[in-house]
Amino acid sequence: MPAELPGPGTLPPTYDHLRSYEENRDEGPFFSGPVPRRKIPSRRVRFLGFPVNSPVGIAAGPLLDSKWIALYAKLGFDILTYKTVRTREAKAHSLPNILFLKPEGQVYPGEAPLVASSERSRYPVSITNSFGMPSWDPERWIPDVRKARASLREGQLLSVSVVGSDTSSLQALASDYARCAELAFEAGAHLIELNLSCPNVHGACASVYLDPESAEAVSRAVRGAVGKQKVLVKLGYYEERPRLEMVLRAVLPHVDGIAAINTVSRPVRSPDGKVALPGRERSGICGAAIRSAALGTVEQLCSLREKLLAEFAVVGVGGIMTPADAMAHLRVGADAVMMATAPMYDPYLAMRLREAGDWPARR
Ligand SMILES: Cc1cc2nc3c(=O)[nH]c(=O)nc-3n(C[C@H](O)[C@H](O)[C@H](O)COP(=O)(O)O)c2cc1C
Repeated sequence: MPAELPGPGTLPPTYDHLRSYEENRDEGPFFSGPVPRRKIPSRRVRFLGFPVNSPVGIAAGPLLDSKWIALYAKLGFDILTYKTVRTREAKAHSLPNILFLKPEGQVYPGEAPLVASSERSRYPVSITNSFGMPSWDPERWIPDVRKARASLREGQLLSVSVVGSDTSSLQALASDYARCAELAFEAGAHLIELNLSCPNVHGACASVYLDPESAEAVSRAVRGAVGKQKVLVKLGYYEERPRLEMVLRAVLPHVDGIAAINTVSRPVRSPDGKVALPGRERSGICGAAIRSAALGTVEQLCSLREKLLAEFAVVGVGGIMTPADAMAHLRVGADAVMMATAPMYDPYLAMRLREAGDWPARR
């Protein structure tokens, strides 16, 4: 890592939380730091059968379009997830979409409100985000996903996060996920991620990951539509461990891996006690405050993999803010790590990780 690179949290964030989602998508990423030339490693690691430069990626969220993918690919992130897309256009929630928290300890799901404000806190940050899973219409995102794929270099992978929007019945929802998955592969995704766990949206698509029957129906429909292409499922945090095992058993026949966790749902208030995100009593917590919830889930997934004698990839997501956090996930058995909050405030995290030494030996 060249010594002159700016430290974590010292550059302006690449996502400006004071501007709308559309402004960030169309005018961002806001980045003016140096982009050091990267030496492509001669030794690759394998992820879902693909050779990749490193097991380090960006989770669904901060990569809003192909410009964002191209920048973070240059900054050394090798598995890049295109923010969740749909089969139809959906508008983003209005501002605020991101607020900062300073919780006293680690955060888990619950009813006690957390306090958040728009004043940026010091790195490593904890935030709440609420966007409502906006999406362009496929006519716009398909050509943009193609562009994103074309911007990658050897040893890098494009994942596209997809969600179903037709909540009229479980069958309709599963078919809509499957259609979206097909479109993502047609557009050039190397792999897709089924977002079963976004806690910011009300209705059936918010709770699929908690219900084995729904999770199975969605993943089966997707497998039927995409054949042998690689499919990850994005899960959230489970308060009851047996439920995680039930869902895992339900989806495993149809998918190639699990990414966990999504944000942790909590009521969030502003310092004056009012609901912090108008119209949204609860929102998703992410960043440093969910490190323990995420690492605990990944440990459980890795031990279930042994118990069930199953072959599937585990992707550690949640609260990974430093090279040490990432290494902790890889050491417990994750095949890859992906970050969402950290890269907005520390775009050099992948480069710092590479300096931290060899990847722990995997299974
Ligand atoms: C700005 C932002 C937007 C996000 N949007 C999505 C999304 O569209 N789909 C999704 O599955 N997860 C989304 N997430 C959740 C992340 O993928 C991730 O699961 C969560 O933030 C925990 O990781 P972190 O602590 O590294 O942020 C988003 C997160 C952030 C910070």
